[in-house]
Amino acid sequence: MSDNKKIRKAVLPVAGLGTRFLPATKAMPKEMLTIVDRPIIQHVVDEAKAAGIEHFIFVTGRNKTVIEDHFDKQVELEATLRDRGKTEQLAMLDDLLPEAGQTSYTRQQSPQGLGHAVWCARDLVGNEPFALLLPDVIVQAADQSCMEQMMELYNETGGNIIAVDEVPLEKTSSYGVVKYEEDDKGHKKIDGMVEKPAAGTAPSNLIIMGRYILQPEIFDILETQSAGAGNEIQLTDAMLALMERQDFYACVYEGRSFDCGSKIGFLTANAAFALAREDLAPAFRAELQRLIEEV
Ligand code: UTP
Repeated sequence: MSDNKKIRKAVLPVAGLGTRFLPATKAMPKEMLTIVDRPIIQHVVDEAKAAGIEHFIFVTGRNKTVIEDHFDKQVELEATLRDRGKTEQLAMLDDLLPEAGQTSYTRQQSPQGLGHAVWCARDLVGNEPFALLLPDVIVQAADQSCMEQMMELYNETGGNIIAVDEVPLEKTSSYGVVKYEEDDKGHKKIDGMVEKPAAGTAPSNLIIMGRYILQPEIFDILETQSAGAGNEIQLTDAMLALMERQDFYACVYEGRSFDCGSKIGFLTANAAFALAREDLAPAFRAELQRLIEEV
C-alpha cells in the first residue's frame, strides 16, 4: 500500500427534488424510499461504512430532516422495543446507528446542481480527499462493497477515482461516458468524459454511475465555476478541469448498480435485493413467478 492520504469522509448529496418520483417525494425525500426494508440512504451509508468511512456529510435541502432523524436515536421506540423484549430489532437499530459526531449536515438551500451540492460540503470535508456517493444509486456486490473496491484501486494509484459500469455501446447515449487509456500497470487512466454521446460517438462503453474519490482541489474549481448544462453547476465540468492537473482512474468494480432515481431501477433493485435475502427469497420468488404468469 502506498502512503496515499486515507479517505475518512464521505459526501452524500441529498438535496435533489426527486421529481421523477412525485407524488411519493412531495413530502418525503426519495432517499427514504425503501429497498426491501431499509431506506435507500441506509444502503449507501452501509456501503461507505464497509469501506472504512468514518464521517458522513449529508448535503440536504428542505423536506429532508427525516434523513437526520433516521440516523439518530429514537428513544421512545427503543424503550417500547425493550419493554416488549424485541432484542433482535433493538440490536439491529443499535448496529445501524452512527456514533455520536460521525454525521454532519449542511443545506444546499436551492438545488443548483450536483457540482454546487458537492461544493456546499467544502468546509466540512476540509483539505483532504473524500468519497462521494450519489444516494440515487445502490450497488449489490458479492464480497467487497463498490467503495471498498475503489479504495483498493486508490491505494495503488492515488489521484481521483471514478467507478464505472460496463454497458453495451448502444446504451451509452443516456449516460456520462469516460474516455481512457490503459497505462503500463493496466490501470484505466481517464483522459476525457462525454455526457450523453450521440449514437456511434461514445469514447468507450464505461459509464459513470455515481461513486467517486476526489481530491480537495475540486472545491477550488467549483468555487468559480459557472453553470453548465441545464443551467446547473455540473460536477463533470469541474472534474474535467481537475483532470488537466491531476490523474483520474476508472474503477470497473465487481457488482451491479441500480439507479433508484428511476422507477424501473428502483423496482428492479427491490426485486434483486429481496431475491438475495434468505428469509424472503423462496416466498418472493414464488409470488413473482405467479405474477409474471398471470399478467
Ligand atoms: P438527480 O438529478 O438524479 O436528482 O441528481 P434529483 O434532481 O433529485 O431527481 P429528479 O431528476 O428530479 O427525479 C443526482 C444526485 O445529486 C443530488 C440528488 O439528490 C441526487 O442524489 N443533487 C442534485 C443535489 O444534491 N443537488 C442538486 O442541486 C442536484
